[in-house]
Amino acid sequence: MIVAIDGPAASGKSTVARALARRLGFRYLDTGAMYRAVAEEALEQGVSLDDAAALAELAHAAMIAFEYAGDDPVYRRITVRGRDVTVAIRTPEVDAAVSAVARIPEVRSAMVAEQRRCAAGSDIVVEGRDIGTVVFPDAEVKVYLTASARERAARRLKDRAGAGYEATLEDVVSDIARRDEVDTTRETSPLTVAEDAVTVDTTGRTVDEVVEAIERLVHVRRP
Ligand code: DC
Repeated sequence: MIVAIDGPAASGKSTVARALARRLGFRYLDTGAMYRAVAEEALEQGVSLDDAAALAELAHAAMIAFEYAGDDPVYRRITVRGRDVTVAIRTPEVDAAVSAVARIPEVRSAMVAEQRRCAAGSDIVVEGRDIGTVVFPDAEVKVYLTASARERAARRLKDRAGAGYEATLEDVVSDIARRDEVDTTRETSPLTVAEDAVTVDTTGRTVDEVVEAIERLVHVRRP
């Protein structure tokens, strides 16, 4: 069974998808981490974010791999051509670069092919922007997570502080607004709500409440 979780930046997708995968004993696929890994590799190699052909080539050669510890469905490390980028993909520089990389059609087709290969035949929770619409249009459960702009900014600020980066609420609000703009208006696979997705607003709700709500949807499909 595929559980697709889409939604905008800082809507709570990662926290919810990870907790859900652990609870269900499903695998977990973080597709945002894959686009981040390509962006990080581009910055590392000094590839221009305007050079679509070079970025496409880089995406094809990236050999992105997730490493797991024991039977935890949540990966411990992500590597690009064997290089550990787990921490490096979460910097403000990668945040700023990733939308430009993710809007290139050839980068997306390389990532989508890899995502379909990874998920084939498994029970898996997949989070991203286009999972229920493009990558797995036949997913048995589709959720679109949202939260108010204010709450999303507050969450991102907390993440940033936790990772040791200084930022103001204003910085974060404008960063999220810019990413939403690029992600929802790009030509290839823009962020939209799949027709058959259930929208779950996480504003003011705990992670447990949201996870339980999605778990109920899963159990309706697989009692
Ligand atoms: O979920 P995230 O913040 O880690 O995603 C990083 C970026 O990757 C985000 O700006 C949009 C893009 N993305 C995408 O275009 N398609 C996906 N399936 C996942 C992420």
